[in-house]
Parts: sequence; structure tokens; C-alpha cells
Amino acid sequence: MTAAAAFRFELTTRPAGPVAPRTGRLHTAHGIVETPVFMPVGTLATVKTLLPAEVAETGASIILVNAYHLYLRPGHRLIERLGGVHRFMRWDRPILSDSGGFQVFSLASLRKVTEDGVRFRSHIDGSEHHYTPELAMEVQQALGVDIAMPLDHVVPGDAPYEAAAEAVQRTLRWYRRCREAAPGLPTFAIIQGGTHPALRRYHAREALQAEPPGFSIGGLSVGEPKARMWETVELTNAELPIERPRYLMGVGSPEDLVEGIARGIDMFDCVLPTRLGRNGALFTDTGRLTIRNAANREVDAPPDPVCDCLACRQFSLAYLHHLFRNDELLGHRLATHHNLRYLARLVERARQAIRDGSFEQFRREFLARYRTADE
Ligand code: GUN
Ligand code: ZN
Repeated sequence: MTAAAAFRFELTTRPAGPVAPRTGRLHTAHGIVETPVFMPVGTLATVKTLLPAEVAETGASIILVNAYHLYLRPGHRLIERLGGVHRFMRWDRPILSDSGGFQVFSLASLRKVTEDGVRFRSHIDGSEHHYTPELAMEVQQALGVDIAMPLDHVVPGDAPYEAAAEAVQRTLRWYRRCREAAPGLPTFAIIQGGTHPALRRYHAREALQAEPPGFSIGGLSVGEPKARMWETVELTNAELPIERPRYLMGVGSPEDLVEGIARGIDMFDCVLPTRLGRNGALFTDTGRLTIRNAANREVDAPPDPVCDCLACRQFSLAYLHHLFRNDELLGHRLATHHNLRYLARLVERARQAIRDGSFEQFRREFLARYRTADE
């Protein structure tokens, strides 16, 4: 069965409208994902520092990998020969891949965009590449992922209208080529358009013509004010069919998850929990906890007393503080594990609140505690 044949999304609660919280279920060739969901980032076919079994233990049901990185190294054909990315990394649950659009435009150098694709130099060794919509799909097909992203033209968040409009038109044309190149892969449409309302609406409406299996909202969380980001999410979701999944790309702080879910987002990914973990910061309901703070030196209590993760069940905050002061790798592992468990629990709490009809109360109480703690 192709990944596209296996793919299906169903809503499990009826939302009040297109911009309202909902729960759902993504069916994929590698299993079911309850939504709203947070997808841990495994850029290079590894969620940094953790074993696949440990990632699963956090409650993660789907992870993200990056086509751009795996194309450059070790190469998608090698991964294909070794049985695909699931077998390569020994993760047997669903995997979504990003196309490389965002990465080409943020990591690579000497970029030249043409209608055919984008020419760039690798951020690893300076080698020259020509990445096209067809190649992005060839890579993701070789990886054998469950959900793919199309190659998109990403412009800076503050790009003027003309440049953003051209990128939208190109992304629409590239999407058609992606779908034709890989009909067997469920490939979401990525909506761009910066923070220009007319462009976002236009892109969403035009993308609908191709009947995408799902919609990604790209080009956000790139430095624009939060209010603009949420305004953009709202007006984009307002254009989208209720029954298709919506994925807000690159967004994943606790408060942004809650705010995104409130506006009808189903899927999120972000490097934040894993990156912050390696930097010694822990998510808690009362804000971020900095492990290295001197005040934590003798705290003989779990880092987060309400957390059921491996770190909080077994170790004291004093011990984590000690690990981080000595740059011990176990500290990176435990903090990463905690942050992923925290976000998995957060989306589970949100799903439960939506089912109970108490999401608005959950949101209000969560944000009140989280924000006051931040200041
Ligand atoms: N990740 C975060 N933002 C984006 C985006 O706009 N496009 C793609 N392809 N990936 C992203
Ligand atoms: Zn914990």
C-alpha cells in the first residue's frame, strides 16, 4: 500500500468553526497519530541524544526528519538501499519529512532561484546542488516517509509584498509539480505569503484547487510580532476546510502550542524542546527552569514535581545541576527527555480539555500561570 493510500485524517470532535480547537486522528502507513500533536525534530534521522525507544517513551507518536540534510549526507539513495529512513534509524512509528525548502533558504549559500528550482552551495562542504520540486519528492520518496512536504519558496518574514507574492506564485506552481512527481505520497500544501493578509488568503484559496491531503502554514515564527503571527494563522485557517489537517511549521513553545491549538492547528514541530534541553532549560507549567542556576545546587527534589518523565521520576534537580555544571552528556539526555515528555503531556491535556469542552478554561489557566512565571 502506498503512503497516500494509507493516509486519512478524521476529526474526533466537531469544532465550532474553521478557527476553533479540535481533536483528530491521522492514519498513516506506520500507525495512528492523535491530534493536536507535537512532532519532535530528528533532522538527521536522530532526535538528538535519545534512543528511538526513549523518544517513544516520552509519548511522541510521530517525528520529523529533514530531506535537505539527509539528501546532502548520507544521501537519500543510500538510505533507500538500507531499507528507508524508518529502518535506517529504527523508528517504526510515523515520520513526516520537511522538503528542504526552508533549509535551502536558511542554511545554504549562494542561492539562485529559478522557475526550475534552486541552485545552492551546501552548508557542509560548499558543493553545488540544483534542488527542484521533483528532486525534493524523489528524496522524500526514497526516505519512505509517511507524510511529505512540497518544495516551497521561502522569503524573509519582512519581505515586501512584491517578493512575497512572487514566492507564493512559485510555491503554487511547484506544488503542482510535487504532486505530479509523487502521486503515492501524501504531500501537504505549504501556505506562504508572509504577514500579508491578502497573500495568505490568496495562497490558501488557490492551494485548495489541488485538493491537498493537508495544509502547512509556513514562513512564520521568523521574527514577526506574535500578534501578527496569530492574526495570520487565524485568517489562513478561516480559508481552510475543517476536515483537513493543519500543520503550523517550526512552532513549538508551550504557550504557542496552546495558542495554536486554540485557533484550530493540529500539528506542530520545533527544535526548541531538544535545543533548550541541551542548553539546560526545562519546560514547566510555571515557565522555564534554568538548571545551572546556583539556587538549584542543593535542591533534593524532582526538577518538575508534577512530571512523570524518566528524569523527574529518578533524579533530583541538584543532580541535574551537577551534570550541567560538568557538561555531562547524561544531563543533555535527561533534559531533552523531560522537555519532550512535557510537550507530549501538554498536547494530551489539551486534547482532553477539548473533548471535555473545557479547552477555553484550560487555555486561560495555563497561560495565566505560564506568563506570570516568565516575568
Ligand atoms: N519550517 C518552518 N517554516 C517552514 C517553511 O516556511 N517552509 C518549510 N518547508 N519548512 C519550514
Ligand atoms: Zn520531567
